[in-house]
Amino acid sequence: MLSKYRWWRDAVIYQVYVRSFLDSTGDGIGDLAGVRAGLPYLKKLGVDGIWLSPFYPSPQHDHGYDVADYCGVDPLFGDLAEFDLLIAAARRLGVKVLLDVVPNHCSSEHPWFQEALASAPGSAARDRFHFSDGRGADGAEPPNNWHSMFGGPAWTRVTEPDGRPGQWYLHMFAPEQPDWNWRNRQTGAEFDRVLRFWLDRGIDGFRIDVAAGLYKHPELPDSDDPEADARTRDSVNPLAWNQPEVHDVWRHWRAVCEEYTAGDGRERLLVGEVSVPTAREHAQYVRPDELHQAFFFDLLSAPWSADAFRKVISEAMQDIAGTGSTVTWVLNNHDQVRTVTRYGEPATEGSGLGAARARAAALLMLALPGAAYIYQGEELGLPEVVDLPDDVLTDPIFRRTGSRARIRDGCRVPLPWSGQASPFGFTSGAESARPWLPQPSYFAEYATDRALADTRSFWHLYRDGLQLRAALPQLGEGTLDWLDTPPGVLAFVRGDGLVCAVNFGTAPVPAPVSGTPLLSSGPCTAGVLPGSTAAWWIGDL
Ligand code: NOJ
Repeated sequence: MLSKYRWWRDAVIYQVYVRSFLDSTGDGIGDLAGVRAGLPYLKKLGVDGIWLSPFYPSPQHDHGYDVADYCGVDPLFGDLAEFDLLIAAARRLGVKVLLDVVPNHCSSEHPWFQEALASAPGSAARDRFHFSDGRGADGAEPPNNWHSMFGGPAWTRVTEPDGRPGQWYLHMFAPEQPDWNWRNRQTGAEFDRVLRFWLDRGIDGFRIDVAAGLYKHPELPDSDDPEADARTRDSVNPLAWNQPEVHDVWRHWRAVCEEYTAGDGRERLLVGEVSVPTAREHAQYVRPDELHQAFFFDLLSAPWSADAFRKVISEAMQDIAGTGSTVTWVLNNHDQVRTVTRYGEPATEGSGLGAARARAAALLMLALPGAAYIYQGEELGLPEVVDLPDDVLTDPIFRRTGSRARIRDGCRVPLPWSGQASPFGFTSGAESARPWLPQPSYFAEYATDRALADTRSFWHLYRDGLQLRAALPQLGEGTLDWLDTPPGVLAFVRGDGLVCAVNFGTAPVPAPVSGTPLLSSGPCTAGVLPGSTAAWWIGDL
Protein backbone atom coordinates (compact mmCIF):
# COMPACT_ATOMS: atom_id res chain seq x y z
CA MET A 1 0.00 0.00 0.00
CA LEU A 2 1.35 3.46 -0.86
CA SER A 3 1.68 5.84 2.04
CA LYS A 4 -0.46 8.94 1.43
CA TYR A 5 2.07 11.27 2.96
CA ARG A 6 4.89 11.90 0.50
CA TRP A 7 7.49 12.63 3.15
CA TRP A 8 10.10 14.11 0.86
CA ARG A 9 7.97 17.00 -0.39
CA ASP A 10 8.70 19.24 2.58
CA ALA A 11 11.48 17.24 4.23
CA VAL A 12 14.55 18.81 5.80
CA ILE A 13 17.62 16.73 5.01
CA TYR A 14 21.00 17.16 6.69
CA GLN A 15 24.05 16.61 4.51
CA VAL A 16 26.70 14.56 6.29
CA TYR A 17 30.13 15.00 4.77
CA VAL A 18 31.31 11.77 6.31
CA ARG A 19 35.06 12.42 6.48
CA SER A 20 34.44 15.63 8.48
CA PHE A 21 31.52 14.66 10.71
CA LEU A 22 32.85 12.50 13.57
CA ASP A 23 35.80 10.11 13.74
CA SER A 24 35.28 6.97 15.81
CA THR A 25 38.61 5.28 15.07
CA GLY A 26 41.10 8.02 15.86
CA ASP A 27 42.67 8.25 12.41
CA GLY A 28 41.60 11.86 11.94
CA ILE A 29 38.97 11.01 9.31
CA GLY A 30 35.26 10.81 10.05
CA ASP A 31 33.55 7.46 9.47
CA LEU A 32 30.23 5.62 9.43
CA ALA A 33 30.42 4.64 13.11
CA GLY A 34 30.90 8.35 13.82
CA VAL A 35 27.75 9.12 11.86
CA ARG A 36 25.88 6.51 13.90
CA ALA A 37 27.15 8.07 17.13
CA GLY A 38 25.96 11.48 15.91
CA LEU A 39 22.42 10.38 15.02
CA PRO A 40 20.89 11.38 18.39
CA TYR A 41 22.36 14.87 17.90
CA LEU A 42 20.69 15.09 14.49
CA LYS A 43 17.43 13.73 15.83
CA LYS A 44 17.49 16.42 18.52
CA LEU A 45 18.08 19.05 15.83
CA GLY A 46 14.91 17.78 14.19
CA VAL A 47 15.92 16.82 10.66
CA ASP A 48 13.90 14.27 8.69
CA GLY A 49 16.83 12.54 7.10
CA ILE A 50 20.50 12.56 6.21
CA TRP A 51 22.42 12.40 2.93
CA LEU A 52 25.79 10.68 3.24
CA SER A 53 28.60 11.88 0.98
CA PRO A 54 30.33 8.98 -0.85
CA PHE A 55 31.96 6.40 1.44
CA TYR A 56 32.65 3.77 -1.25
CA PRO A 57 36.10 2.29 -1.92
CA SER A 58 38.00 5.09 -3.60
CA PRO A 59 41.52 6.44 -3.94
CA GLN A 60 40.01 9.71 -2.65
CA HIS A 61 41.31 11.97 -5.39
CA ASP A 62 38.03 13.87 -5.11
CA HIS A 63 37.08 12.65 -1.63
CA GLY A 64 35.01 9.71 -2.76
CA TYR A 65 33.48 11.24 -5.91
CA ASP A 66 35.99 8.96 -7.66
CA VAL A 67 34.37 5.58 -7.00
CA ALA A 68 36.37 2.39 -7.52
CA ASP A 69 33.66 0.02 -6.25
CA TYR A 70 30.04 1.19 -6.11
CA CYS A 71 28.89 -1.60 -3.81
CA GLY A 72 31.33 -1.44 -0.93
CA VAL A 73 32.56 0.68 1.95
CA ASP A 74 36.09 2.10 1.95
CA PRO A 75 38.01 0.79 4.99
CA LEU A 76 38.64 4.46 5.84
CA PHE A 77 34.96 4.75 6.69
CA GLY A 78 34.08 1.26 7.99
CA ASP A 79 32.56 -1.76 6.33
CA LEU A 80 29.21 -3.08 5.17
CA ALA A 81 28.40 -4.44 8.64
CA GLU A 82 28.86 -0.94 10.07
CA PHE A 83 26.74 0.45 7.27
CA ASP A 84 23.94 -1.96 8.21
CA LEU A 85 24.18 -0.88 11.85
CA LEU A 86 23.88 2.74 10.78
CA ILE A 87 20.77 2.03 8.72
CA ALA A 88 19.19 0.11 11.58
CA ALA A 89 19.96 2.89 14.08
CA ALA A 90 18.58 5.54 11.73
CA ARG A 91 15.43 3.49 11.17
CA ARG A 92 14.89 3.17 14.94
CA LEU A 93 15.16 6.96 15.31
CA GLY A 94 12.94 7.63 12.30
CA VAL A 95 15.74 9.32 10.33
CA LYS A 96 15.78 8.61 6.58
CA VAL A 97 19.08 7.84 4.88
CA LEU A 98 20.06 8.91 1.36
CA LEU A 99 23.25 7.76 -0.33
CA ASP A 100 25.27 9.72 -2.86
CA VAL A 101 25.44 7.91 -6.21
CA VAL A 102 27.98 9.05 -8.80
CA PRO A 103 26.86 7.93 -12.28
CA ASN A 104 28.67 10.45 -14.51
CA HIS A 105 32.17 9.13 -13.82
CA CYS A 106 34.04 6.59 -11.74
CA SER A 107 37.61 6.27 -10.47
CA SER A 108 40.48 5.50 -12.79
CA GLU A 109 41.02 2.56 -10.42
CA HIS A 110 37.59 1.08 -11.18
CA PRO A 111 38.20 -2.43 -12.57
CA TRP A 112 36.36 -1.62 -15.81
CA PHE A 113 38.58 1.39 -16.45
CA GLN A 114 41.66 -0.65 -15.68
CA GLU A 115 40.38 -3.26 -18.13
CA ALA A 116 39.85 -0.51 -20.72
CA LEU A 117 43.44 0.70 -20.30
CA ALA A 118 44.73 -2.82 -20.80
CA SER A 119 42.57 -3.35 -23.92
CA ALA A 120 43.07 -2.26 -27.49
CA PRO A 121 41.57 0.87 -29.09
CA GLY A 122 38.10 0.06 -30.39
CA SER A 123 37.61 -2.78 -27.88
CA ALA A 124 34.37 -3.42 -26.00
CA ALA A 125 36.14 -2.55 -22.74
CA ARG A 126 37.06 0.92 -24.07
CA ASP A 127 33.54 1.55 -25.32
CA ARG A 128 32.28 1.78 -21.73
CA PHE A 129 34.17 5.10 -21.52
CA HIS A 130 34.92 7.86 -24.01
CA PHE A 131 38.19 6.88 -25.68
CA SER A 132 39.14 8.69 -28.89
CA ASP A 133 42.14 9.17 -31.10
CA GLY A 134 43.81 12.54 -30.73
CA ARG A 135 44.07 15.22 -33.40
CA GLY A 136 47.12 16.74 -35.00
CA ALA A 137 50.43 15.12 -35.79
CA ASP A 138 50.63 11.68 -34.16
CA GLY A 139 47.33 12.30 -32.38
CA ALA A 140 49.11 14.49 -29.86
CA GLU A 141 46.23 17.00 -29.51
CA PRO A 142 43.07 16.23 -27.49
CA PRO A 143 40.07 15.01 -29.55
CA ASN A 144 38.12 18.25 -28.86
CA ASN A 145 38.50 21.58 -27.06
CA TRP A 146 36.42 20.84 -23.94
CA HIS A 147 37.62 21.93 -20.53
CA SER A 148 37.46 19.96 -17.33
CA MET A 149 35.36 21.48 -14.54
CA PHE A 150 38.43 21.25 -12.33
CA GLY A 151 40.73 23.11 -14.74
CA GLY A 152 42.80 22.06 -17.76
CA PRO A 153 41.64 19.96 -20.71
CA ALA A 154 38.86 17.39 -20.30
CA TRP A 155 41.04 14.75 -21.99
CA THR A 156 44.07 12.75 -20.87
CA ARG A 157 46.25 10.69 -23.17
CA VAL A 158 47.00 7.10 -22.23
CA THR A 159 50.03 4.97 -22.82
CA GLU A 160 48.92 1.91 -24.76
CA PRO A 161 49.76 -1.59 -23.47
CA ASP A 162 52.63 -1.69 -26.01
CA GLY A 163 54.22 1.37 -24.41
CA ARG A 164 53.37 3.89 -27.16
CA PRO A 165 51.43 7.13 -26.60
CA GLY A 166 47.89 6.27 -27.57
CA GLN A 167 44.25 7.33 -27.33
CA TRP A 168 42.70 9.96 -25.08
CA TYR A 169 39.87 9.52 -22.59
CA LEU A 170 37.30 12.08 -21.47
CA HIS A 171 36.99 13.30 -17.90
CA MET A 172 34.78 16.29 -17.19
CA PHE A 173 36.37 16.47 -13.72
CA ALA A 174 39.84 15.24 -12.66
CA PRO A 175 41.84 12.79 -14.84
CA GLU A 176 41.29 10.26 -12.03
CA GLN A 177 37.53 10.47 -12.79
CA PRO A 178 36.91 9.02 -16.29
CA ASP A 179 33.40 9.68 -17.63
CA TRP A 180 31.18 6.69 -18.30
CA ASN A 181 29.77 6.22 -21.79
CA TRP A 182 26.02 6.03 -21.19
CA ARG A 183 25.42 5.13 -24.84
CA ASN A 184 26.88 1.73 -23.96
CA ARG A 185 24.05 -0.34 -22.48
CA GLN A 186 26.32 -2.04 -19.97
CA THR A 187 26.70 1.26 -18.11
CA GLY A 188 23.00 1.58 -17.37
CA ALA A 189 22.72 -2.09 -16.48
CA GLU A 190 25.59 -1.78 -14.02
CA PHE A 191 23.92 1.17 -12.31
CA ASP A 192 20.68 -0.80 -12.03
CA ARG A 193 22.64 -3.37 -10.07
CA VAL A 194 24.14 -0.63 -7.87
CA LEU A 195 20.78 0.98 -7.12
CA ARG A 196 19.23 -2.34 -6.17
CA PHE A 197 22.22 -3.34 -4.05
CA TRP A 198 21.69 -0.34 -1.74
CA LEU A 199 17.89 -0.27 -1.93
CA ASP A 200 17.91 -3.91 -0.81
CA ARG A 201 19.97 -2.83 2.22
CA GLY A 202 17.12 -0.55 3.31
CA ILE A 203 18.08 2.98 2.29
CA ASP A 204 15.50 5.68 1.55
CA GLY A 205 16.95 7.04 -1.67
CA PHE A 206 19.81 8.67 -3.50
CA ARG A 207 21.36 12.06 -4.02
CA ILE A 208 22.55 11.91 -7.63
CA ASP A 209 25.86 13.54 -8.43
CA VAL A 210 26.02 15.64 -11.61
CA ALA A 211 22.51 14.66 -12.64
CA ALA A 212 22.56 16.86 -15.75
CA GLY A 213 25.65 14.97 -16.94
CA LEU A 214 25.93 11.33 -18.07
CA TYR A 215 25.23 11.81 -21.81
CA LYS A 216 27.42 13.89 -24.10
CA HIS A 217 26.72 15.03 -27.63
CA PRO A 218 27.18 11.79 -29.66
CA GLU A 219 29.90 13.25 -31.89
CA LEU A 220 31.82 15.04 -29.13
CA PRO A 221 32.26 18.13 -31.35
CA ASP A 222 34.29 21.21 -30.44
CA SER A 223 32.57 23.72 -28.18
CA ASP A 224 31.86 27.19 -29.65
CA ASP A 225 32.89 28.83 -26.39
CA PRO A 226 35.59 26.66 -24.89
CA GLU A 227 36.63 29.42 -22.49
CA ALA A 228 33.25 29.49 -20.77
CA ASP A 229 33.79 26.14 -19.04
CA ALA A 230 37.28 27.22 -18.11
CA ARG A 231 36.02 30.37 -16.41
CA THR A 232 33.39 28.77 -14.25
CA ARG A 233 32.75 25.61 -12.31
CA ASP A 234 29.21 25.61 -13.66
CA SER A 235 28.26 23.19 -16.34
CA VAL A 236 27.82 25.57 -19.24
CA ASN A 237 29.09 23.58 -22.25
CA PRO A 238 25.81 22.60 -23.94
CA LEU A 239 27.50 19.68 -25.71
CA ALA A 240 28.69 18.06 -22.49
CA TRP A 241 25.67 18.56 -20.22
CA ASN A 242 21.89 18.53 -20.20
CA GLN A 243 21.48 16.18 -23.20
CA PRO A 244 17.88 15.03 -23.81
CA GLU A 245 18.73 11.33 -23.34
CA VAL A 246 19.53 11.80 -19.65
CA HIS A 247 15.82 12.14 -18.91
CA ASP A 248 15.28 8.52 -19.96
CA VAL A 249 17.72 7.46 -17.24
CA TRP A 250 15.79 9.35 -14.58
CA ARG A 251 12.50 7.88 -15.81
CA HIS A 252 14.00 4.44 -15.47
CA TRP A 253 15.47 5.10 -12.01
CA ARG A 254 12.15 6.52 -10.86
CA ALA A 255 10.46 3.30 -12.00
CA VAL A 256 12.97 1.27 -9.98
CA CYS A 257 12.17 3.36 -6.89
CA GLU A 258 8.43 3.02 -7.47
CA GLU A 259 8.86 -0.74 -7.65
CA TYR A 260 10.38 -0.74 -4.13
CA THR A 261 7.70 1.64 -2.87
CA ALA A 262 4.96 -0.60 -4.26
CA GLY A 263 6.56 -3.49 -2.38
CA ASP A 264 6.54 -2.02 1.12
CA GLY A 265 4.83 1.39 0.97
CA ARG A 266 8.01 3.29 1.85
CA GLU A 267 8.65 6.05 -0.66
CA ARG A 268 12.20 6.17 -2.01
CA LEU A 269 13.61 9.54 -3.00
CA LEU A 270 15.81 10.63 -5.90
CA VAL A 271 17.29 14.09 -5.50
CA GLY A 272 19.47 15.34 -8.33
CA GLU A 273 22.36 17.72 -8.34
CA VAL A 274 21.11 19.56 -11.41
CA SER A 275 23.06 22.58 -12.63
CA VAL A 276 21.37 23.88 -15.76
CA PRO A 277 21.10 27.41 -17.10
CA THR A 278 17.44 28.20 -16.38
CA ALA A 279 14.72 27.36 -13.85
CA ARG A 280 12.62 26.14 -16.78
CA GLU A 281 15.24 23.55 -17.77
CA HIS A 282 15.65 22.61 -14.13
CA ALA A 283 11.93 21.89 -13.94
CA GLN A 284 12.27 19.27 -16.70
CA TYR A 285 14.24 17.07 -14.32
CA VAL A 286 11.41 16.89 -11.79
CA ARG A 287 8.53 16.00 -14.07
CA PRO A 288 6.21 13.51 -12.37
CA ASP A 289 7.97 10.43 -13.74
CA GLU A 290 11.56 11.68 -13.30
CA LEU A 291 13.48 12.79 -10.23
CA HIS A 292 11.46 13.58 -7.12
CA GLN A 293 13.62 16.61 -6.39
CA ALA A 294 16.51 18.60 -7.83
CA PHE A 295 18.57 21.08 -5.84
CA PHE A 296 17.60 24.61 -6.75
CA PHE A 297 21.00 26.32 -6.60
CA ASP A 298 19.85 29.79 -7.65
CA LEU A 299 19.07 30.66 -4.03
CA LEU A 300 22.57 29.63 -3.04
CA SER A 301 24.11 31.74 -5.78
CA ALA A 302 21.93 34.82 -5.18
CA PRO A 303 23.68 37.85 -3.71
CA TRP A 304 22.39 39.24 -0.41
CA SER A 305 19.67 41.42 -1.89
CA ALA A 306 15.90 41.49 -1.47
CA ASP A 307 15.37 41.86 -5.23
CA ALA A 308 17.68 38.95 -6.09
CA PHE A 309 16.09 36.64 -3.50
CA ARG A 310 12.57 37.56 -4.56
CA LYS A 311 13.40 36.92 -8.22
CA VAL A 312 14.87 33.44 -7.66
CA ILE A 313 12.11 32.41 -5.26
CA SER A 314 9.38 33.57 -7.66
CA GLU A 315 11.00 31.88 -10.63
CA ALA A 316 11.46 28.62 -8.77
CA MET A 317 7.87 28.58 -7.58
CA GLN A 318 6.56 29.38 -11.03
CA ASP A 319 8.64 26.86 -12.91
CA ILE A 320 8.23 24.03 -10.48
CA ALA A 321 4.44 24.41 -10.33
CA GLY A 322 2.82 21.64 -12.31
CA THR A 323 5.86 19.35 -12.34
CA GLY A 324 4.66 17.23 -9.44
CA SER A 325 7.64 18.22 -7.33
CA THR A 326 8.31 20.90 -4.77
CA VAL A 327 11.27 23.28 -4.80
CA THR A 328 14.39 21.93 -3.10
CA TRP A 329 16.11 24.84 -1.36
CA VAL A 330 19.76 24.92 -0.44
CA LEU A 331 22.04 27.60 0.96
CA ASN A 332 25.18 25.57 1.71
CA ASN A 333 26.92 22.40 0.65
CA HIS A 334 30.37 20.84 0.53
CA ASP A 335 31.26 22.67 -2.70
CA GLN A 336 30.43 26.24 -1.71
CA VAL A 337 31.74 28.97 0.54
CA ARG A 338 29.67 28.86 3.73
CA THR A 339 26.89 31.48 4.07
CA VAL A 340 28.38 33.17 7.13
CA THR A 341 31.45 34.08 5.08
CA ARG A 342 29.69 34.49 1.73
CA TYR A 343 27.29 37.10 3.10
CA GLY A 344 30.03 38.83 5.11
CA GLU A 345 31.06 42.27 3.94
CA PRO A 346 34.00 42.19 3.55
CA ALA A 347 34.81 38.51 4.25
CA THR A 348 34.58 38.03 8.00
CA GLU A 349 35.51 35.19 10.26
CA GLY A 350 31.94 34.53 11.17
CA SER A 351 31.09 37.32 13.47
CA GLY A 352 28.93 40.30 12.71
CA LEU A 353 27.16 40.96 9.50
CA GLY A 354 27.79 37.65 7.74
CA ALA A 355 26.50 35.69 10.70
CA ALA A 356 23.39 37.87 11.10
CA ARG A 357 22.59 37.51 7.41
CA ALA A 358 23.21 33.75 7.44
CA ARG A 359 20.77 33.41 10.35
CA ALA A 360 18.19 35.49 8.50
CA ALA A 361 18.67 33.46 5.30
CA ALA A 362 18.15 30.24 7.28
CA LEU A 363 14.79 31.43 8.64
CA LEU A 364 13.81 32.53 5.16
CA MET A 365 14.69 29.16 3.67
CA LEU A 366 12.87 27.23 6.38
CA ALA A 367 9.73 29.27 5.71
CA LEU A 368 9.64 28.53 1.99
CA PRO A 369 7.32 25.85 0.61
CA GLY A 370 9.21 22.71 -0.38
CA ALA A 371 12.18 20.75 0.90
CA ALA A 372 15.37 22.15 2.44
CA TYR A 373 18.89 20.76 2.71
CA ILE A 374 21.23 21.79 5.53
CA TYR A 375 24.96 21.19 5.23
CA GLN A 376 26.74 19.96 8.35
CA GLY A 377 28.11 22.86 10.40
CA GLU A 378 25.50 25.24 8.96
CA GLU A 379 23.48 24.65 12.14
CA LEU A 380 26.53 25.83 14.12
CA GLY A 381 27.08 28.96 12.03
CA LEU A 382 30.53 27.73 11.04
CA PRO A 383 32.42 30.17 8.86
CA GLU A 384 34.49 29.14 5.88
CA VAL A 385 38.10 28.53 6.89
CA VAL A 386 39.72 30.92 4.46
CA ASP A 387 43.35 30.71 5.53
CA LEU A 388 44.23 27.02 5.21
CA PRO A 389 47.88 26.84 4.13
CA ASP A 390 48.53 25.66 0.58
CA ASP A 391 50.29 22.52 1.76
CA VAL A 392 47.17 21.10 3.46
CA LEU A 393 44.76 21.75 0.58
CA THR A 394 43.36 18.58 -0.97
CA ASP A 395 40.87 19.88 -3.52
CA PRO A 396 41.80 18.70 -7.02
CA ILE A 397 40.76 22.15 -8.25
CA PHE A 398 43.78 23.62 -6.46
CA ARG A 399 46.08 21.02 -7.96
CA ARG A 400 44.67 21.50 -11.47
CA THR A 401 44.42 25.31 -11.51
CA GLY A 402 47.17 26.32 -9.09
CA SER A 403 44.74 28.94 -7.80
CA ARG A 404 42.91 29.21 -4.48
CA ALA A 405 40.01 31.02 -6.17
CA ARG A 406 37.53 28.15 -6.31
CA ILE A 407 38.84 25.69 -3.74
CA ARG A 408 36.44 23.83 -1.49
CA ASP A 409 38.54 22.68 1.48
CA GLY A 410 37.45 25.67 3.59
CA CYS A 411 33.88 24.40 3.99
CA ARG A 412 35.02 20.83 4.69
CA VAL A 413 37.06 21.33 7.86
CA PRO A 414 36.06 18.71 10.49
CA LEU A 415 33.26 19.71 12.87
CA PRO A 416 34.02 20.90 16.40
CA TRP A 417 32.05 18.94 18.99
CA SER A 418 33.53 19.94 22.36
CA GLY A 419 36.50 21.35 24.21
CA GLN A 420 38.81 24.31 23.83
CA ALA A 421 41.41 23.02 21.39
CA SER A 422 41.64 20.98 18.20
CA PRO A 423 40.49 18.25 17.62
CA PHE A 424 37.46 19.59 19.55
CA GLY A 425 36.09 16.10 20.17
CA PHE A 426 36.06 15.33 16.42
CA THR A 427 38.53 12.51 16.86
CA SER A 428 39.14 10.64 20.07
CA GLY A 429 42.41 9.19 18.88
CA ALA A 430 45.95 9.69 20.11
CA GLU A 431 47.54 13.13 20.04
CA SER A 432 49.18 12.28 16.74
CA ALA A 433 45.87 11.62 15.03
CA ARG A 434 45.12 15.09 13.75
CA PRO A 435 41.94 15.93 11.86
CA TRP A 436 42.59 15.54 8.14
CA LEU A 437 42.26 19.31 7.71
CA PRO A 438 43.46 21.57 10.52
CA GLN A 439 40.75 23.21 12.62
CA PRO A 440 41.34 26.87 13.52
CA SER A 441 41.42 27.71 17.25
CA TYR A 442 38.30 29.88 16.90
CA PHE A 443 36.27 26.71 16.15
CA ALA A 444 36.04 26.45 19.98
CA GLU A 445 33.28 29.08 19.85
CA TYR A 446 31.23 26.89 17.52
CA ALA A 447 31.53 23.50 19.24
CA THR A 448 28.23 21.64 19.48
CA ASP A 449 28.33 21.42 23.28
CA ARG A 450 28.54 25.22 23.51
CA ALA A 451 25.90 25.65 20.85
CA LEU A 452 23.47 23.40 22.65
CA ALA A 453 24.02 25.24 25.95
CA ASP A 454 23.48 28.73 24.47
CA THR A 455 19.92 29.55 23.48
CA ARG A 456 21.20 32.41 21.26
CA SER A 457 23.24 30.02 19.12
CA PHE A 458 22.66 29.14 15.47
CA TRP A 459 21.84 25.64 16.67
CA HIS A 460 18.84 26.83 18.68
CA LEU A 461 17.63 28.93 15.77
CA TYR A 462 17.70 25.92 13.44
CA ARG A 463 16.20 23.62 16.08
CA ASP A 464 13.37 26.07 16.87
CA GLY A 465 12.74 26.66 13.18
CA LEU A 466 12.55 22.93 12.51
CA GLN A 467 10.24 22.37 15.46
CA LEU A 468 7.85 25.06 14.24
CA ARG A 469 8.04 23.68 10.71
CA ALA A 470 6.97 20.30 12.01
CA ALA A 471 4.20 21.75 14.18
CA LEU A 472 2.65 24.40 11.94
CA PRO A 473 0.68 23.28 8.90
CA GLN A 474 1.28 26.71 7.28
CA LEU A 475 4.95 25.81 6.88
CA GLY A 476 4.27 22.63 4.94
CA GLU A 477 3.26 22.54 1.31
CA GLY A 478 0.97 25.34 0.27
CA THR A 479 0.81 28.88 -0.94
CA LEU A 480 3.29 31.74 -0.75
CA ASP A 481 1.88 35.24 -1.27
CA TRP A 482 4.16 38.25 -1.36
CA LEU A 483 3.28 41.28 0.75
CA ASP A 484 4.01 44.87 -0.29
CA THR A 485 7.19 45.96 1.39
CA PRO A 486 9.61 48.88 1.28
CA PRO A 487 12.79 48.43 -0.80
CA GLY A 488 15.30 46.06 0.76
CA VAL A 489 12.63 44.08 2.63
CA LEU A 490 10.86 40.85 1.67
CA ALA A 491 7.71 39.55 3.31
CA PHE A 492 5.34 36.77 2.40
CA VAL A 493 2.40 34.92 3.88
CA ARG A 494 2.35 31.15 4.02
CA GLY A 495 -0.95 29.32 3.99
CA ASP A 496 -3.60 30.91 6.18
CA GLY A 497 -1.47 33.36 8.07
CA LEU A 498 2.17 32.68 8.85
CA VAL A 499 4.19 35.73 7.85
CA CYS A 500 7.92 35.65 7.23
CA ALA A 501 9.76 38.93 6.71
CA VAL A 502 13.44 39.60 6.04
CA ASN A 503 15.17 42.96 6.27
CA PHE A 504 18.13 42.83 3.90
CA GLY A 505 19.23 46.34 4.83
CA THR A 506 21.06 47.42 7.96
CA ALA A 507 18.57 50.00 9.34
CA PRO A 508 15.41 48.89 11.21
CA VAL A 509 12.05 49.01 9.40
CA PRO A 510 8.46 48.73 10.68
CA ALA A 511 7.45 45.06 11.03
CA PRO A 512 4.69 43.95 8.66
CA VAL A 513 2.77 42.37 11.57
CA SER A 514 2.05 43.76 15.02
CA GLY A 515 2.97 41.71 18.04
CA THR A 516 6.01 39.73 19.05
CA PRO A 517 7.36 37.27 16.49
CA LEU A 518 7.12 33.53 17.03
CA LEU A 519 10.77 33.26 16.08
CA SER A 520 13.39 35.71 14.88
CA SER A 521 16.94 35.38 13.69
CA GLY A 522 18.13 38.15 16.03
CA PRO A 523 16.76 40.33 18.82
CA CYS A 524 13.38 41.64 17.68
CA THR A 525 10.78 43.61 19.58
CA ALA A 526 7.13 44.10 18.62
CA GLY A 527 6.56 46.40 15.68
CA VAL A 528 10.16 46.63 14.46
CA LEU A 529 12.25 44.46 12.15
CA PRO A 530 15.93 45.28 12.73
CA GLY A 531 18.48 45.20 9.90
CA SER A 532 19.88 41.84 8.69
CA THR A 533 17.09 40.03 10.52
CA ALA A 534 14.26 37.66 9.60
CA ALA A 535 11.22 36.85 11.69
CA TRP A 536 8.08 34.73 11.65
CA TRP A 537 4.70 35.80 13.00
CA ILE A 538 1.23 34.38 13.12
CA GLY A 539 -1.21 37.20 13.41
CA ASP A 540 -3.18 40.02 11.88
CA LEU A 541 -1.60 41.94 9.08
C1 NOJ B 1 29.59 17.42 -7.49
C2 NOJ B 1 30.05 17.13 -6.10
O1 NOJ B 1 29.21 17.82 -5.19
C3 NOJ B 1 31.49 17.56 -6.01
O2 NOJ B 1 31.97 17.53 -4.70
C4 NOJ B 1 32.29 16.67 -6.92
O3 NOJ B 1 33.64 17.12 -6.92
C5 NOJ B 1 31.76 16.72 -8.34
N1 NOJ B 1 30.33 16.59 -8.41
C6 NOJ B 1 32.35 15.59 -9.16
O4 NOJ B 1 31.83 14.37 -8.73
